[in-house]
Amino acid sequence: MTTLVTGAAGFIGYHVSRHLLERGDRVVGIDDLNPYYDVGLKTARLEGLRRYDTFAFNRGDIAEEGVLRDATRDEHITHVVHLAAQAGVRHSIDNPHVYARSNVVGHLQVLEYCRHNASLQHLVYASSSSVYGGNTKVPFSEDDRVDTPVSLYAATKRADELMSASYAHLYGFRQTGIRFFTVYGPLGRPDMAYWLFTEAMRRGAPIRLFDAGRGKRDFTYIDDAVKGVLSIHDSPRDASRPAHAIYNIGNNRPEPVGKMVSTLESLLGVKAKIEELPAQPGDMAYTAADIDAIQRDFSFSPDTPLETGLEAFVSWYRDFCG
Ligand SMILES: NC(=O)c1ccc[n+]([C@@H]2O[C@H](COP(=O)([O-])OP(=O)(O)OC[C@H]3O[C@@H](n4cnc5c(N)ncnc54)[C@H](O)[C@@H]3O)[C@@H](O)[C@H]2O)c1
Repeated sequence: MTTLVTGAAGFIGYHVSRHLLERGDRVVGIDDLNPYYDVGLKTARLEGLRRYDTFAFNRGDIAEEGVLRDATRDEHITHVVHLAAQAGVRHSIDNPHVYARSNVVGHLQVLEYCRHNASLQHLVYASSSSVYGGNTKVPFSEDDRVDTPVSLYAATKRADELMSASYAHLYGFRQTGIRFFTVYGPLGRPDMAYWLFTEAMRRGAPIRLFDAGRGKRDFTYIDDAVKGVLSIHDSPRDASRPAHAIYNIGNNRPEPVGKMVSTLESLLGVKAKIEELPAQPGDMAYTAADIDAIQRDFSFSPDTPLETGLEAFVSWYRDFCG
């Protein structure tokens, strides 16, 4: 079994790749190492993956024609975990074209690559809880309508799901989309609130808290998210199920952003200086995952409380950032 992981130098891509390599699988990673955030963090993740003999890496832009084919020319790819994307909700408001290219054209290139790969068994790709946008019914279920995106990022992720549905219909190869809910943890993303807050609090700088920290998030610890991805990745095709399916991966336990701040305060031993700001365009007030479907089909059961996950993050952060 060989898995092509797109976005292998990214946060989730690194962790998924490491777990696959740890158990002896072969992984071919691809990433363009773009400077959206510290490239040093991306290369540090790659260094960790290069310790395994069964890891191969190619630098390239997945949106470019032929890049995926060239990167895997001598490989026998059976699985694809497609995580490369321009992530970050707020950045999509000022930089829409990057999102169209990486998330929409990039997803199409992955679909075309898969459709021409006779040995492919399963494409698992990242969508996002953002697709639930302005929905008010909680928790968010995969069966809910998702046609009220509140950011371009969300619209690109929904477009990916629809393109996948069309390719499953036309060509029948197996695909599973995953709607991730605020994944956090060691080697995480510097543009996300838990990292920005930790960084600012350690410097004694103010943190920007939107809507008085009332917004709730279904924070999902990285190891729980990876367990979910791997159970889906490894599952055999079930002929009674459609070729294309979508699952939420969340913690099923939304917590106020304010609680994340108080947990970081006690882990870091500092009182946060808070700059209060109104809710931001593109932000969702509340995210909560209904995880019944993934629990039922893949026995998924996240078990990391926010306090434990943040403790692991802070401990790694102190080592990495000094
Ligand atoms: N982390 C979360 O909370 C979260 C939540 C919802 C969805 N997601 C989705 O999960 C996936 C992984 O997210 P992440 O948090 O690891 O983000 P990340 O930014 O750390 O990882 C994405 C990686 O993709 C690479 N990349 C971007 N565009 C590329 C391109 N055109 N060609 C090749 N590589 C490219 C980046 O360099 C980066 O290393 C993304 O699709 C993201 O939208 C993440």
